[in-house]
Amino acid sequence: MFKFILYISKVSEQCDDRQMTNILVTSRSNNARNAVTGMLVRSDSAFLQYIEGSEETIDKLFWTIERDKRHHSVKTITDGLIEDRVFFDWEMGFANEANLQPLQWKWQLDKISMFSLADNASDCLDFVKAFLATPDLAHNLPAT
Ligand SMILES: Cc1cc2nc3c(=O)[nH]c(=O)nc-3n(C[C@H](O)[C@H](O)[C@H](O)COP(=O)(O)O)c2cc1C
Repeated sequence: MFKFILYISKVSEQCDDRQMTNILVTSRSNNARNAVTGMLVRSDSAFLQYIEGSEETIDKLFWTIERDKRHHSVKTITDGLIEDRVFFDWEMGFANEANLQPLQWKWQLDKISMFSLADNASDCLDFVKAFLATPDLAHNLPAT
């Protein structure tokens, strides 16, 4: 069994593209070592992250992530146990506004902000899983 957590948070002011790249490079290397997979979505002001791995690893990682000053107001949308990973070989996919724009028709982000999306856990899970259809995002970094 694997544990997953889906949470939302608010981006801190100091979290620019350079910080984003740092987060992703560190995450991908740590997650590869710890067998954690998932997806991080960033809008201008919010993060939405899905992480999955062994229960012990995920609890420990989430404890660290929650205390990271590059975001705040971390709120779990849903968590639980699953039999199979969803993001198999994605050490931490990433999508930001630039990646979301061309896909906007699909998720209508202009109408659904990530925080209102978070009110419905199953919509929110569908939202992150939809990124699997765009494999380029598995290794994506913010354009600098
Ligand atoms: C939104 C967000 C998502 C993060 N996701 C991960 C992650 O998936 N894996 C990870 O190891 N660190 C992640 N971090 C970074 C951790 O909070 C922490 O800085 C990092 O794990 C420390 O790694 P180190 O001990 O190798 O320096 C994330 C940070 C933020 C702000």
